[in-house]
Amino acid sequence: MSKNRLVSGFHHFAMEVSDMDKSIAFYRDILGFKLSERHTADEIEAIPMDLTFLRVGENHHDLVLAHNPNKKYRARNEADAAEGPAYIHHFAFGCPDKEAWLEIMEDVKARGIEIVRGPVVHSKYNPRGDGSWGENESFYVLDPDGHRLELFCEMATIAADGTFVSAAGERIEEAKVEEV
Ligand SMILES: [Fe+2]
Repeated sequence: MSKNRLVSGFHHFAMEVSDMDKSIAFYRDILGFKLSERHTADEIEAIPMDLTFLRVGENHHDLVLAHNPNKKYRARNEADAAEGPAYIHHFAFGCPDKEAWLEIMEDVKARGIEIVRGPVVHSKYNPRGDGSWGENESFYVLDPDGHRLELFCEMATIAADGTFVSAAGERIEEAKVEEV
């Protein structure tokens, strides 16, 4: 028996960036985030860092960028090193449909931003899939600090009985979650 649901889903993500202007431009120009508020360190006593709140919809913020002016940042971390501190591996943003996803991919390529993985279909069931999980179609890029972003469309949903349902609304009978 699973525990009662305590959270409703992914809400927002906060991360450090080395250059606030550069990062705001990246998330605004490429992904269409809008600026909700931008604040500088020590505006209020409790917050000794620059904070920028960005949103994609009706939430006040979906992404928070933090910059500590007293910290020495490295421009790129070695996120793929086999050993090292526990960096953030990746975080993901969904696109409303495949068309929007393809549009972002074209834009990313046109800007000369390297796609570090993909495009890939994360699926064991789709003939185009690479055997991985989620049923979504993805590609991955690095932001100006080397944070790895996954941009995806068409992730499976899970029906009440635990069966995967593709983005096209088809039940994938052989695919079930481990816990309903
Ligand atoms: Fe992911």
